[in-house]
Amino acid sequence: LEGGRASVRISPVDVSVALRRVLETALAPEGTSVEVRVPEGASVLADPVRLEQLLTNLIVNAYRYGGSRIVVEASEEAGHMLVTVSDNGGGVPVELIPVLFEPFTRGPTSGAVGGSGIGLAISKLLVEAFGGSIWYEARNPHGARFCIRLAMPR
Ligand SMILES: Nc1ncnc2c1ncn2[C@@H]1O[C@H](COP(=O)(O)OP(=O)(O)OP(=O)(O)O)[C@@H](O)[C@H]1O
Ligand SMILES: [Mg+2]
Repeated sequence: LEGGRASVRISPVDVSVALRRVLETALAPEGTSVEVRVPEGASVLADPVRLEQLLTNLIVNAYRYGGSRIVVEASEEAGHMLVTVSDNGGGVPVELIPVLFEPFTRGPTSGAVGGSGIGLAISKLLVEAFGGSIWYEARNPHGARFCIRLAMPR
């Protein structure tokens, strides 16, 4: 994406369909629940394949680094679609937050659970290629929430 060698093909994508496909492949570990609060037909403008890749990264991150309760939500907000992946784990270590979306960022506990630290960097490039934005919010009292704002087809 950065070098202009990868392209994205933007079209309307049904988030509930994309998510169903993602969760068929990225199965929750034993003891982890995934609650999906996505209305049927909630659609965004994105590359369908790339959107699944980035949702997979956020959900697998929640499996690896988050808690046992994961919630994926989509809601319309000010004419955009807000898609969030929340967990009830320890949240992103504070020292990591400023560089969270840079390549090769990995926390002190990431070593044992694999991963190369490029998932979020790629996710950010992808979301921006869709014309959207991605950010992190720490949850109260604890937990991580990753938010994606994307345009909706009109
Ligand atoms: N839900 C989460 N809760 C707590 N920490 C997280 C969460 N998601 C990501 N992180 C932290 O952010 C780091 C970067 O995540 P990123 O997805 O970019 O890389 P990775 O998962 O380590 O490797 P890769 O995605 O390349 O396989 C992780 O290593 C972890 O320390
Ligand atoms: Mg990852």
